[in-house]
Amino acid sequence: MRMGMTRGGAAFIAVLFVSVFSVAGAAGILKAPFKPLDVLPLLPHSISWPVLKSLNNALDILPQFVGAVTDENNTVKWRGTCFYENEAYIEFVEPTDKNKMGGGILHLKTSSAHSWTCMDIYVFATPYRITWDYYFTARSHTLKITDWQEGEEQYVKEKGFSVFLMPAGMLGTLVALWDVIPIFSNSVWGESSNIAFLEKRMGATFTKRLGPLVTNISMDEIHSGDFLALSKIRGRWGGFETLEKWVTGAYAGHTAVCLKDDDGKLWVGESGHENEKGEEVIVVIPWDEWWNLQLTDVANPQVALLPLSAESRAKWNNTAAWEYAREMNGQPYGYHNMIFSWIDTKNDNYPPPLDANLVASVITMWTRIQPDYASNMWNEALNKRLGTEGLDLPAVIIESEKQGIPFEELLAMPEQDDWVYSDGKSTTCVAFILSMYKNAGLFGPVADDIQVTEFTIRDAYMLNFFESDRSKLPSFCNNGVDPPLPYCQLLGGYVLELPDYNTINPYSHMDETCPSIPPDYERPKRC
Ligand SMILES: *[C@@H]1O[C@H](CO)[C@@H](O)[C@H](O)[C@H]1NC(C)=O
Ligand SMILES: *[C@@H]1O[C@H](CO)[C@@H](O)[C@H](O)[C@H]1NC(C)=O
Ligand SMILES: *[C@@H]1O[C@H](CO)[C@@H](O)[C@H](O)[C@H]1NC(C)=O
Repeated sequence: MRMGMTRGGAAFIAVLFVSVFSVAGAAGILKAPFKPLDVLPLLPHSISWPVLKSLNNALDILPQFVGAVTDENNTVKWRGTCFYENEAYIEFVEPTDKNKMGGGILHLKTSSAHSWTCMDIYVFATPYRITWDYYFTARSHTLKITDWQEGEEQYVKEKGFSVFLMPAGMLGTLVALWDVIPIFSNSVWGESSNIAFLEKRMGATFTKRLGPLVTNISMDEIHSGDFLALSKIRGRWGGFETLEKWVTGAYAGHTAVCLKDDDGKLWVGESGHENEKGEEVIVVIPWDEWWNLQLTDVANPQVALLPLSAESRAKWNNTAAWEYAREMNGQPYGYHNMIFSWIDTKNDNYPPPLDANLVASVITMWTRIQPDYASNMWNEALNKRLGTEGLDLPAVIIESEKQGIPFEELLAMPEQDDWVYSDGKSTTCVAFILSMYKNAGLFGPVADDIQVTEFTIRDAYMLNFFESDRSKLPSFCNNGVDPPLPYCQLLGGYVLELPDYNTINPYSHMDETCPSIPPDYERPKRC
């Protein structure tokens, strides 16, 4: 599954968005007198959610799976919130010149409304697409599905198109996510929509570099522990990284680390490297191999080298760093805990219109559509937080309420670096590097009070471990005609900016309670 390829914490967030969108219906303007609960779906998210939450318990506002719709001989029937009788099936449409992959028409009949002003909101999903619509009239509706993706039609024939009844109140949220869609829509995955999104939502700037766009490095001047920050702004991973950057405030979306062996040969350690089987794993590979992959990557990576300062290098224990790297080599990428580096607080990590309930909604849908990934991506980690084993999400929510922990608090609980999952220890790209730093001695006396899985990429490059005195950078840095940076950009057509680079000394329990609200991502001291 392509999902297996995501990096640096982005998968979950991406899921979040991929999940919600491709707007099928536009918000209708209704002039009828409404009952208060019926109007809820039409109100802006900021008003409807609090009302909704006050009226319901946590389980009631999760999307409800009503059925997997297949062909006309297997009509699915269910009871909605507004319409008590609903049924649906899919008519498969043969490929045509205009619609080469073929498509389908989802027929949905609503009847027996409990009041004439209510509506039902649905999300329709396969692992390949998500779309949504809402209905407030009792009649037959159709939803057109164009261009099945590779494998999608077969999936729908076998497993069906999943239909989720959304809690009333979702509509404002779905509409508010409108500008997230182009990032994922097939036709406009381009650089320009990623850039526009980051400029608008994050306040980022994209200055074109004059050159040279590829730096000739000399390996002699690169040392063990030097940090590699990457930013992709094109293609599928560009879209994932864009969302990760937005929710975490990081200006880079992926990271790797340099390592020198005893013979002076340069290697790169990377968590989130795709192996021959298409799995994302941790690897240590020769520099040249890694560099060639960057040069030929269609995602157009911007790459910067953040050299360790002389002081950090003096602390660096290369034997311990290599020991750690060898121990982790081949281990899976850290799906289990990636969302937890982002979410540290009950409310202050969710750029509007996201919140913990929406996260729970996405988890619910994702679990249904991609069950194989669900336990990997959060179930195990949530169970660890509760001290339980094997509970699925609804059971987690019930148990968590039983223990007196609201769901948003559960998501905010710090991950512990020594937690071992069913497939081993779990480390995202940046957790892998910071763990190596911890082992190599860079965190000094506070090492035991640092949970690296709590660090985002931004938190990592803000650490005061690097060299920002330009006169001490390697000679190949800032050799072009561009204004100089306090680090070395090695590749890319845009200046890779890293605000607050190299500014914070590590302290105990660093980054366990940090908010991340755009566009300033203000960071309280010692959060
Ligand atoms: C539905 O059943 C009818 C009658 O058995 C059959 O002719 C038709 O091909 C079936 N449709 C599908 C999509 O399987
Ligand atoms: C980099 O190296 C290549 C090949 O040796 C050379 O042609 C090119 O001019 C060099 N570029 C810079 C900026 O030094
Ligand atoms: C460096 O790490 C190795 C392996 O963990 C350890 O045996 C050695 O004592 C360390 N060296 C120093 C100077 O701390």
